[in-house]
Amino acid sequence: MKALLLAGGKGTRLRPITNNLPKPMVLIMGKPLLERTILNLKNYGVDEVVLSTCYKSKHIKDFLKDGAELGVKINYITEDIPLGTGGAIKKAEEFFDDTFIILNSDIVSDIDYAELIRYHKEKKAHVTIAMTEVQDPSQYGVIEFNDSGFVTAFKEKPKIGETSSKFINAGVYIFEPEVLKEIPANSVVSIEKETYPSLLKKGYNLAAYKFHGYWIDIGTLNKYKKVHEDILTGKCRILCKNKGEILLDKKGIIIEKGVKIHPTARIFGPAYIGNNVFIDAYAKIGPYAVIGNESYIGYKSTIKSSVIWDNVRINESVKLCNAVITSKCIVKRDTEVLDTVLIS
Ligand code: GDD
Ligand code: MG
Repeated sequence: MKALLLAGGKGTRLRPITNNLPKPMVLIMGKPLLERTILNLKNYGVDEVVLSTCYKSKHIKDFLKDGAELGVKINYITEDIPLGTGGAIKKAEEFFDDTFIILNSDIVSDIDYAELIRYHKEKKAHVTIAMTEVQDPSQYGVIEFNDSGFVTAFKEKPKIGETSSKFINAGVYIFEPEVLKEIPANSVVSIEKETYPSLLKKGYNLAAYKFHGYWIDIGTLNKYKKVHEDILTGKCRILCKNKGEILLDKKGIIIEKGVKIHPTARIFGPAYIGNNVFIDAYAKIGPYAVIGNESYIGYKSTIKSSVIWDNVRINESVKLCNAVITSKCIVKRDTEVLDTVLIS
């Protein structure tokens, strides 16, 4: 089975994290989201992935290369100008001649793709859209559907009063390749605003799959922080390395390999400490602290409700609370970093 990952967006709402980095490459518990997504797909039998890139595409290619290290074949398509979600899907047409998966690359979910594909086949659908229920659907694509499980209307970012449905497009689709002929080539097209409404008008079968598991779009800073909290409390179970899940001990603490913790330092769960981290004397870590690989936490520093990426140096007596510190940052001694994102 093949999958197409839409990974070309600018990630504007995640700035400044995305100033130097494409959104799908942000680290989730010390590993790029895109890598986690591909490894997850692989567990469902996906052996070939097409990455549709645009913003900072080189960064993605340099990191994932041809996919050999992950055990899947990766093909790249790069747009010079953003073609929108529909235009990007059309540009990938040559790769698909059988039922395939399409994903937005900024979501973390534990959706069962095998079950989704089974539903798609049972419904004999041209497209199946996975839906999740949310309190406030205004920032999403909202789906109306009938009792037989088929989409009757698709309303992208609807205005207040435009729909009463709370089921939103989860950004996970199963497609039959024949549908691609309905998208104009070499044009900027939104799959959500243009293609789905047009397919419905033309009488295509768009199945609506209700998904009840964990789902989040990490497109804003609050949600980026929230997914880490949810992983640390076991609400969101994500894959670690090629198989198995990240396991929390009784206090909700995960300590990876090669970690050195000074005997006077204290760890308050839930917390995640990546490979080869060094935590110096009297430092206090947690609760809700994520520390990326190879990072150093200095003497008497405290880290609460914060996400630290790889190769970060936190010098002595630093206080971090509700902060995100991206890779290679150095935080000077005696600094307080509250509700802030630091990039190097
Ligand atoms: N290649 C390419 N080119 N990819 C793109 C482009 C483009 O021009 N524009 C967006 N993408 C990718 C983004 O990288 C992201 O992975 C995905 O398409 C969706 O774009 P977002 O910018 O994240 O859209 P959104 O979050 O506002 O809304 C979308 O996701 C919601 C669920 O999170 C829509 O699909 C909504 O309907 C949906 O509810
Ligand atoms: Mg999004």
